[in-house]
Amino acid sequence: MFSSRLPARLTPNAVSVDLARLRAAGVPLVDLTETNPTAAGLAYPPDLLAPLADARSLRYRPAPFGDAEARGAVAASYGKPRAALSLGLKAQGSVRQRHVRGSATPWSPGPSGPGELSPDRVILTSSTSEAYSMLFKLLCDPGDAVLVPRPSYPLFDLLGALDAVRLVPYRLDADAAWAIDRADLERRLTPDTRAILVVSPNNPTGSCVRADDRDWLVQLARERRMAIIADEVFADYPLCPRPDASSFAGVDSALTFTLGGLSKSVGLPQVKLAWIVVSGPDDDVAAALARLEIIADTYLSVSTPVQVAAPRLIAAGRVVGDAIRARITRNFAHLAEAIGTRPETTLLTPEGGWSAVLRVPAIASEETIVRQLVVDGHVVVHPGYFFDFDREAYLVVSLLPQPDVFDDGIARVLAGVGEEVR
Ligand SMILES: Cc1ncc(COP(=O)(O)O)c(C=O)c1O
Repeated sequence: MFSSRLPARLTPNAVSVDLARLRAAGVPLVDLTETNPTAAGLAYPPDLLAPLADARSLRYRPAPFGDAEARGAVAASYGKPRAALSLGLKAQGSVRQRHVRGSATPWSPGPSGPGELSPDRVILTSSTSEAYSMLFKLLCDPGDAVLVPRPSYPLFDLLGALDAVRLVPYRLDADAAWAIDRADLERRLTPDTRAILVVSPNNPTGSCVRADDRDWLVQLARERRMAIIADEVFADYPLCPRPDASSFAGVDSALTFTLGGLSKSVGLPQVKLAWIVVSGPDDDVAAALARLEIIADTYLSVSTPVQVAAPRLIAAGRVVGDAIRARITRNFAHLAEAIGTRPETTLLTPEGGWSAVLRVPAIASEETIVRQLVVDGHVVVHPGYFFDFDREAYLVVSLLPQPDVFDDGIARVLAGVGEEVR
């Protein structure tokens, strides 16, 4: 009766079963998987959403790509330096050198914008997920392939399946600070590969696409007439960025779709506003926009109130972005310090994003470790396999929880892992 786009089995995994049982028994749990910024005790200005009640929204003026002023505000946000917040990572000096792997560099400003961006190339969507769906419809016939990084965002599997697109993983190299494994990516290309997807900073590794990988990708995409889809929803959240990080929205020699949204940039997932920036050779951009207009016009999914409010939400929401940056910076510093005393656990260096990855001894499977942490330590973390890491054992924690919750949770995780090793 039902389509095969949906999973054949709908049964919950073992960790979810444990969690449901403990929650039903009223056991308090420390949740280090919380990535909802509105549930993380951040101080949102109480009137932040007042612009949604603007009387101009009483008039419906459907426009496939969205309201011109809102598109202008998004375009303007790319011209500004992103996330100009000094990150307090100095204190960890020696701890990081011993235990934090990857390409740690001193702090420098976050990814720069592409400079002047035309609002004509900005398309509003209700979420990044919807943006993916529109791009898959634009680029792929059923069964066509899109290359996706591994490890990365677990929702890709469903996003691809729901649009009948074959998502083919390419490897990010754990031993090279998650650089693209170019040989692996090239092996995955087939005549029906329509696009290469990158996530920068990536969820959960926090790694950004390196400048040389970006140039290589752009050339490959141009030569093989493929598009690039660049998910930059975490671009405003640098942690230990490299100086060469920059947005794909500036790419002009291959057709490129760069995604962002308010759910991360100003911590407002509930208002449902995201966007696609289209760049590349003028002919390709024009052809893509003409087709995207048909898709967008079919759904007209972005509400008028959020479009009218967008310029003010982007401006006023900066304080929420600042609060999130302060939170993730503080929690990451605490994590690095706590791990400094635990030789069995390694903290991987995130260049940006809202999560951190711990490598722990694989003396049991990730599922066993995570279940023990839940059942014995009453602390919830994600196992690496949720994100398709190619080896065990990794644990993924959100950097968003309130500091007291975070510190308590990390102490429980480290105690649980230490117990395992003994
Ligand atoms: C890499 C990545 N892209 C997109 C999203 C979702 O964004 P949206 O809420 O706009 O659909 C997430 C959410 O965590 C994410 O991790």
